[in-house]
Amino acid sequence: MLVLGVESSCDETGVALYDSAHGLLAHALYSQIAMHSAYGGVVPELASRDHIRRVLPLTREVLAESDRTLSDIDGIAYTEGPGLAGALLVGAGMARALAYALAIPAVGVHHLEGHMLSPLISDTPPEFPFVALLVSGGHTQLMLVSGVGRYTLMGETLDDAAGEAFDKTAQLLGLGYPGGPALSALAATGDPSRFSLPRPMLNSGDFDFSFSGLKTAVLTLVRKVGLDEAADIAAAFQSAAVEVLVKKSLAACLHSGATRLVVAGGVGANAHLRERLTRDAATRGIAVFYPRLEFCTDNGAMIAYAGAQRLVAQSSSIPDLTFAVKPRWELATLDAV
Ligand code: KG4
Ligand code: ZN
Repeated sequence: MLVLGVESSCDETGVALYDSAHGLLAHALYSQIAMHSAYGGVVPELASRDHIRRVLPLTREVLAESDRTLSDIDGIAYTEGPGLAGALLVGAGMARALAYALAIPAVGVHHLEGHMLSPLISDTPPEFPFVALLVSGGHTQLMLVSGVGRYTLMGETLDDAAGEAFDKTAQLLGLGYPGGPALSALAATGDPSRFSLPRPMLNSGDFDFSFSGLKTAVLTLVRKVGLDEAADIAAAFQSAAVEVLVKKSLAACLHSGATRLVVAGGVGANAHLRERLTRDAATRGIAVFYPRLEFCTDNGAMIAYAGAQRLVAQSSSIPDLTFAVKPRWELATLDAV
């Protein structure tokens, strides 16, 4: 089954073609980061307008690259939520209209399910069950995954998401938006032991997180020592955030008996997190799986893949022209496949 996937939940337009028998055929991405960076964050209305400009050219691009035409597509998957309402509506509207015109089924995909299943787009995918650490700009969650659509929330952040903490700390250090990659590049040049920052909820005995206190601790430190020490502060922040993520993820594996850990979402691109997690997991007999680096951040491939799992398993009907999006949507409420 050939599935077109469309992602438009935030500041990246992603389109991909996934063949359930032959794997990923092509994917294309347009990032709006340069446009939003002048404002220090995503401007929702500008995001929606830009998705409108990009979504059809990207669709033509993946079709041409994989030598297919619209009539070869058997189903369309799009991000239904969570995300920015206007941005979601662009992808949903395009996907549902195209599916209607082609008389093929369409399926709305949960953005985080896309992230969580993205390490499965691989020649050596992890088997179920596994624990998933979802670390994006908007979410930090530990999920027990026993199959597609079978998700049990083990713990989550009580305030800021991990990516949000990276972004806000980067802003405090005068780095641009999005701050995660810039902060981790600066941290690589700093001394993580020069300053000591708190490890919030490290020993709370559950699988929840809290990152807002860490950000406040950075603010206090910056006020005290100034920005000349920015690299050491960045390294101290990264080391504190990563230590909590690593310890809680491994504890969640031990608690649930899972021997596989999947890391997904933008912060999963962080080199220090990958290094620490892989090293500490190995000593406990846990194998860690990451998506391809380009599929850590938002992309169409993960939506095409997750949508294909549902389209193949379900007898989806051909959509009519009414549809809605879900800017807020709990992952644990999805139907099992
Ligand atoms: O998954 P994603 O692309 O979008 C959401 O669905 O939120 O994640 C974006 C987040 C941003 O907060 C960004 O700063 C962070 O991922 N990020 C990183 C790195 N690359 C992206 N954080 C830390 N280190 C990185 N290398
Ligand atoms: Zn995302």
